[in-house]
Amino acid sequence: MKQAEIIIDGTTYAFPIIEGTEGEKAIDITALRDKTGHITLDVGYQNTGSCLSAITYIDGEKGILRYRGYPIEELAEKSSFTETAHLLVYGHLPSPEERKVFSQRLTENSMIHEEMIRFFDSFPLKAHPMAILSTMVNALTVYYPEFFTVDFESDTFDIMAARLISKIRTIAAYSHKHSIGEPFVYPRHDYPYCTNFLYMMFDSPVHPYEVDPDIEKVLNILLILHADHEQNCSTSTVRLVGSSMVNLYSSICAGICALWGPLHGGANQEVIDMLKNIQKDGMTPKQCMEAAKDRSNSFRLFGFGHRVYKSYDPRAKILKTLCDAMVAKLGVKEPLIDIALELERLALEDEFFREKKLYPNVDFYSGILYRLIGIPTNMYTVMFAIGRLPGWIAQWKEMHDTKPFRIGRPRQIYTGPSLKRYEDE
Ligand code: CMC
Repeated sequence: MKQAEIIIDGTTYAFPIIEGTEGEKAIDITALRDKTGHITLDVGYQNTGSCLSAITYIDGEKGILRYRGYPIEELAEKSSFTETAHLLVYGHLPSPEERKVFSQRLTENSMIHEEMIRFFDSFPLKAHPMAILSTMVNALTVYYPEFFTVDFESDTFDIMAARLISKIRTIAAYSHKHSIGEPFVYPRHDYPYCTNFLYMMFDSPVHPYEVDPDIEKVLNILLILHADHEQNCSTSTVRLVGSSMVNLYSSICAGICALWGPLHGGANQEVIDMLKNIQKDGMTPKQCMEAAKDRSNSFRLFGFGHRVYKSYDPRAKILKTLCDAMVAKLGVKEPLIDIALELERLALEDEFFREKKLYPNVDFYSGILYRLIGIPTNMYTVMFAIGRLPGWIAQWKEMHDTKPFRIGRPRQIYTGPSLKRYEDE
């Protein structure tokens, strides 16, 4: 076995080097503190692997993303969101029988408890749907307390996973209906996942909604592209919170809250708000670029940059093509898209952006696409959460399946005052 050596005060300590299936290398420092009395310091976890995982593979230099070995491009083209969800959670594409069972579980669990529906009345009309979503997902714990502890030998996990994947879209659609003061539309048992969501979002007694198959396809692709992204901020949150052995619903609730931030999933809403501000203030895309480069200014170009991708985000590449196709199909003249395209062109040519490897990320185009298919701006991050849910569930399960099971507990280097005496003050 290959080893890495660390020399501290003249003593050499050896640590095993481990290698993933795609050649990623890590120094296993599990025994570091016991052997040397030292810990590692890695603010923002830029170099820290928190787990071994067989779910998602990313090569940020080459722009590769695969779920359980399948390239994201193939899944976007050939799969559906529910099939990809099965792939992530169970590790393989479903057989015809598994597909039937999974689909039936989603249908059986699509409604929200009638008592829970009354919760919506208590939320102000202007409540952000991400706040409603996290609250309602955590509230599932109240309605299904039998799942506080998961028996992985029985089908309790399967039901819990299906319940979450199915109910999240109903909760999301109801939070939109609540905000516009329209009656809730109950899910239909005969509609596939994305059609059902669009129907619950947009159907109304006075404007019956007919689902456009192209829009349904776009939505499937968007959700597939969001479905997992290995140990990002929200997924690490789900794992860390779940490592205290709290139930799945509460772990997912924590993930939703982590996703909401503008540096993470909240960026898709920020992109559109930024484009609107540019339009409103009469700022040119060039001025906006200059502001993003100005180190004395905290302004960032939302939808650009990524911790892992140091070349084009493969998800953004797929969405850009889709965006062009939707603009052509809908025949829309959307000034925000023109601003977005100009920003992208300038960024790709700009020395600062090239040097820092800041390319458009998934949120740059997903915001524009959600706008094109009629999703309200404050729902964009909710859409991301619906998409990311199967990944969170898969990661939560993998963590529970990993032995030895350990609570997550980073250490720190204390930099505060040394011992003080109360009496000395
Ligand atoms: N606009 C302007 N400058 C930027 C940007 C940006 N969007 N992103 C990074 N930089 C600069 C940053 O100021 C820093 O400069 P310096 O070296 O002079 O200090 C340098 O590039 C490195 O940035 P960082 O913040 O240290 O990089 P990070 O890996 O910690 O952050 C990021 C990654 C995604 C948080 C960041 O690029 C960012 O804030 N982007 C905008 C928000 C965004 O679009 N987020 C969605 C990410 S994709 C969806 C998801 O997976 O969550």
